[in-house]
This record gives sequence, C-alpha cells and structure tokens, in this order.
Amino acid sequence: MQNITVLGAGIMGHGAAQLFAQAGKKVRIQARRESSLENARELITNSLEIMVEKEMITQEKMDQTLANITYTTDLREAIEGTEFILESIPEVLETKLATYEIIESVVSEKTIIASNTSTFPLAELTQKAKHPERFIITHYFNPPQIVPIVEIARFEKTDDSVVQAAYDLLKESGKSPVVLKKEITGFIVNRVQVAFLRECFNLIEQGICTAEDIDIAVKGSMGFKWAFCGPLESQDLAGLHTTKAMVGNIMKDLSNTREVPGFLNEMVEKDELGIRSNQGFYKYDDHGEEAIRTRDDNFLDLLKLMQQKEAKAVLSK
Ligand SMILES: NC(=O)c1ccc[n+]([C@@H]2O[C@H](COP(=O)([O-])OP(=O)(O)OC[C@H]3O[C@@H](n4cnc5c(N)ncnc54)[C@H](O)[C@@H]3O)[C@@H](O)[C@H]2O)c1
Repeated sequence: MQNITVLGAGIMGHGAAQLFAQAGKKVRIQARRESSLENARELITNSLEIMVEKEMITQEKMDQTLANITYTTDLREAIEGTEFILESIPEVLETKLATYEIIESVVSEKTIIASNTSTFPLAELTQKAKHPERFIITHYFNPPQIVPIVEIARFEKTDDSVVQAAYDLLKESGKSPVVLKKEITGFIVNRVQVAFLRECFNLIEQGICTAEDIDIAVKGSMGFKWAFCGPLESQDLAGLHTTKAMVGNIMKDLSNTREVPGFLNEMVEKDELGIRSNQGFYKYDDHGEEAIRTRDDNFLDLLKLMQQKEAKAVLSK
C-alpha cells in the first residue's frame, strides 16, 4: 500500500501520519480545522528534528518525510483513491459512524478502514457499514511514531486479507503489531494498565504512599525491566514457585473495586486534568511542553537502543 489517509490531526493522528510518511508512504491527513492541521505540521516537524538531532534519521529523510504528507480539511479530497484509512477522530460513536458513512460513499470497496478506537467494538463501529469485512482496529500508543507496539483487533466479519494487509503495513512502518485472537474491551495493554492503575489508586487512597512514590518505585523496577524482559518472562527468571507464593499471598489483599476512585472523580470535577489544565498528579506551568519534550527525548533514546539491539525482533515473537 502506498496511499494512506489519516483522519484526525490530534494527539494520535499527527503521530500516525508521521509514522507512515517515514515509511515512504504518501499520506494525506485531514482535520476539520486549519489550526489543527497547522499544529500537526509543527508537531511532526519538531518530532523529526529531534530524530535528526539524535542521528536516528538523516536530514534528507526528514525532508522526504515532510514532502510525503499533504494536509487538508476536505474529507473527500483526503480519501479519494486512498488504499488505507486510519480513522483517529474523537472517541464519539456517532461522529465515527457519520464519518464511515461518508467514507463508504466515496472510496472503493477495497479500501481498508482502520479505527484507532480505544473502546468501541467493531460490531458497534460497523453497525451501518456496507462492507464490514474491510473494517479493522489498529490501536496505537502515544506517541505513535515512537512506541513500537500496535494492537490489531478484528471481528468475525473482518476479511483475513484485511488483517494481513494491516499487519504488513505496520511491519513495513517499523512497528511490532500484536494481533488479538478475539476482540475484548481494552485489548491487551489497556486491560493490563487499568488493572495496574486500580492498585496504584488503592495505595494512594489508603495513604500508603503518594503518586510520586509510585512513579519512582515503578520506573525503577518494572519500568526498568519490562522494555526488555516482559512481565511473564520476568517470572520465569525469578522462578514460578516464588511467583506462585507471591501471587497467593498478595492477590487476596489487592483492590477488586469496579468503581472509578472518588479522588479521581473529584480531580476531574475540579478541572485537574493533567497537562491540559496544568494540574494533575503533578503541577505544570507550560501545559506539559517540557514534560512532553523530556518524555519523547527519553523514549527516542530507548527506541534507539532497542533498534540497535534488534529488540524489535524479540517484541514481535
Ligand atoms: N490519546 C491517546 O493516548 C490514544 C491512544 C490510543 C487510541 N486513541 C484513540 O485515538 C482517537 C483519537 O484520539 P486523540 O487522543 O488523538 O484525540 P484528539 O482529540 O487529540 O484529536 C482528535 C482530532 O480529530 C479532529 N476531529 C474531530 N472531529 C472530526 C471529524 N468529524 N473529522 C475529522 N477530524 C475530526 C479534531 O479536530 C482533532 O484534531 C480516539 O478514538 C482515541 O480513543 C487515543
């Protein structure tokens, strides 16, 4: 596939557009407002500049990547003749359904429609679809141009050739796709993440430690290990008799709540939304500009190391 369209130029859309353009694809990115496109162009340029500074790509590659991307507010113009559409617009079902209706009235039935939804099952996304067999979910992680994994979810109507084409495209773009055997809410990563966050929230609510303590403890333990040695591999290395004892002794004491914690509800009500409002678990004064820069700088160093060690081959086992 050579012609890719990304719908939505937000946090995820601009990064996915950069990813495909870096892989040499012709990418059209569409958003409703010129200002969103301008912002996307700036973020993509900044991200590529950091990659050049870190000698992960050449200046020539950066220039080619930028030349591979066109920006438009016109949905028709964005999708006519395209082969693969990544829909990365807001997580509002009606908006997504209305967009798919327009897409299907314009493009050939061979065009693949991939959603970056974090929550909607394909049965809901395709409820009005003329050709549900071309729909698939490709779920990226922020920032998608850097984080290696993309989860691929299909449902019983998705054609095998569509799964293969999405897999091949992502592989060609340097990603390590994981194909789920069955669709499930939250896929793999967000399920694990929410289970983990439930206990983090529980520790905070019980006054055992602060949010900062948890971040320090996790960054220096699981965070340090997991990029190269996954949670299950780690257990093999520790000894499963020890894992059995640890799980048996601790699991019964963990939170099993099914509710969003009260303090999190209160924070959101008080407009403590994280970088967006300059206040979350931490305080910011620049809408997280510095925090994002530091994050991406560190992530790129890690990615570079992984690439050097060919760890991607391990990730895609
Ligand atoms: N943010 C994340 O970490 C993350 C991770 C994985 C998946 N996702 C999913 O990716 C999708 C996009 O999330 P995001 O965080 O990038 O959102 P966002 O709000 O940052 O960006 C959405 C973009 O879509 C544009 N838009 C709104 N309505 C549109 C329409 N009708 N047509 C075209 N563009 C439109 C907005 O102007 C904005 O540029 C969602 O489905 C979300 O669940 C997000």
